[in-house]
Amino acid sequence: MEYSKRVFEHFQKPKFAGELKDADAVGEEGNIKCGDVMKMYIKVENNVIKDIRFKTYGCIAAIAASDTLCELAKGKTLEEAEKLTYADIIKEIEELPAIKIHCSVLGIAALRNAIKNYRKSN
Ligand code: FES
Repeated sequence: MEYSKRVFEHFQKPKFAGELKDADAVGEEGNIKCGDVMKMYIKVENNVIKDIRFKTYGCIAAIAASDTLCELAKGKTLEEAEKLTYADIIKEIEELPAIKIHCSVLGIAALRNAIKNYRKSN
């Protein structure tokens, strides 16, 4: 399977991997195709995502796409962050094999769940 150079860069040195200990909300999503799980942690200040991390047992595509998503979401308002799409991720990492699309949307769903959970508790 062919991955772009950008995918490998994010996979080898993810900047946003791990937990956020003082997160204001956490969102989770499971991949029904492979059974992998993704968690997104967000820290919010004045409606803006001040910090973000992801944790997953997913594959290269899931890690690279989620790291990219975190990079895009950091500094955005909750409304802007929940509108981020697969196309926004692909613009950054160039391409992903078609059979890996379900992996790359895991982070998006987990982030939207984190935002939903944040709104429920605030
Ligand atoms: Fe499970 Fe990609 S194969 S997240």
